[in-house]
Amino acid sequence: MSIGAVVLAAGQGTRMRSALPKVAHTLAGRPMVQWVLDALGAAGVEHTVVVVGHGAQTVRDVLPAEVGVAIQHEQLGTGHAAQVGLAHLDAGCDTVIVACGDTPLLPAELVARLVAEHTSEPRAATMLTAVVPDAGAYGRVVRAPDGRVARVVEARDAAPGELAIGEYNAGLYAFDRAALAEVLERLDASNAQGEIYLTDALERFDGAVAALVAGDPEAAAGVNDRVDLAACEAALQLRLRRELMRGGVTMPDPSAVYLEAGVSVGRDTVLWPGTHLRGATSIGEGCTIGPDVVIADSTIGAGCSVVSAHLAGAELAEGAKAGPFAYLRPGSRLERGARVGTYVELKNTVLGAGAKVPHLSYVGDATVGEGTNIGAGNITANYDGFRKHRTRIGARVKTGSDCVFVAPVSVGDDAMTGAGSIITDDVPAGALGIARARQTVVEGFTAKAVERAAQAAKDAKGGSA
Ligand code: UD1
Ligand code: MG
Repeated sequence: MSIGAVVLAAGQGTRMRSALPKVAHTLAGRPMVQWVLDALGAAGVEHTVVVVGHGAQTVRDVLPAEVGVAIQHEQLGTGHAAQVGLAHLDAGCDTVIVACGDTPLLPAELVARLVAEHTSEPRAATMLTAVVPDAGAYGRVVRAPDGRVARVVEARDAAPGELAIGEYNAGLYAFDRAALAEVLERLDASNAQGEIYLTDALERFDGAVAALVAGDPEAAAGVNDRVDLAACEAALQLRLRRELMRGGVTMPDPSAVYLEAGVSVGRDTVLWPGTHLRGATSIGEGCTIGPDVVIADSTIGAGCSVVSAHLAGAELAEGAKAGPFAYLRPGSRLERGARVGTYVELKNTVLGAGAKVPHLSYVGDATVGEGTNIGAGNITANYDGFRKHRTRIGARVKTGSDCVFVAPVSVGDDAMTGAGSIITDDVPAGALGIARARQTVVEGFTAKAVERAAQAAKDAKGGSA
């Protein structure tokens, strides 16, 4: 037996009121459809075809390379979409799962349980249902007096008595492939929406359709509008936070920590409120992160501290510190124990072990050696209006406050620069580079200036009389 899946993702998602196709909207950093694909993959599905149509290219762009794609040129309904997908599915798949691309909370265990239930005896179809007090816009599961599934009626086609049914169709099914293909041929569009409903297939199989009732209705939640989108985001955030906390991460206020799927955080790290961890980010053990931190696509070693800072594509080695109010852009690397302080921006720059840029500086396209201290208000002038150039500052250097390094330029190990210098020429190791006008002192200047002003006022008065 080989298990395949068809994921329906061709609809526009009209209720989203969006230029972006529904399944391409992201949840916890991942496209909605990807959550469904992950669950299917983890449940042992070997071949998957995603049916795309509305915004086909946009949806294709967010799909992983290994899934097949079928195009439903006109969105004639879920039954038609399933037919289009089935035609593209690997011929070896005799059991077919049909899932909707808009059910991002679907857990892999539930998919696996559905398959186990379906294959426990020869059967045409097994569906997933859930029970809630008010099933809203979902299709209602109508049971026969003997408890078997009689049919599914869409909310828009339902009679008032049927609308009162709390058991709804979760939009996840396991089918015998041959039986499904045969029934899909015979569906029509005689319903309120004039669509070919996949749900109409259920009452046309030979033999009963089995139903697996999801214990937790949240698992089957479908996204149809932005309110549903926010509810699913909240549910995924809760899952991701719990996973980290169970792994030893402290969050004094979990509701104020925002995570994306795939982020990893080590034990005994504290994530304070206002922490956002995005993309391919990994944080080591025993760090203090936040409050008010955004970290994207960055690697943070053990024992680091990041406070009120924005990091993108940055790397911090063990014991490094950033913030408060630091901005580390791509290619920033802080070696062991290095520190970036307040109102400091770094880009494409390596700070050696123990080096410090504590205050009000921009350091871009630079290499700074270990133990070096960059004075307050230093700037690397890395752009000549046409091209970027590098600044190389050696080890144990002390730069004065308010220095500008006009790249390309180098400062040797153990050198110093005078405050207020514009360094345009290389400074050799151990030397002082100073580049500013000498100060002139004018003795008694203030008294003379006062005298001149008084005389001018007198002259003006005499002139007007
Ligand atoms: C569908 C079910 C409903 C169930 C609910 C669960 C039908 C007729 N109804 O309703 O019983 O309770 O899901 O979430 O199946 N799609 C296509 N091509 C189309 C139409 C839709 O690919 O021509 C895709 C959509 O992109 C979406 C999925 O099928 O991912 C479901 O479509 P949607 O319009 O959201 O159906 P629901 O009204 O939610
Ligand atoms: Mg839906």
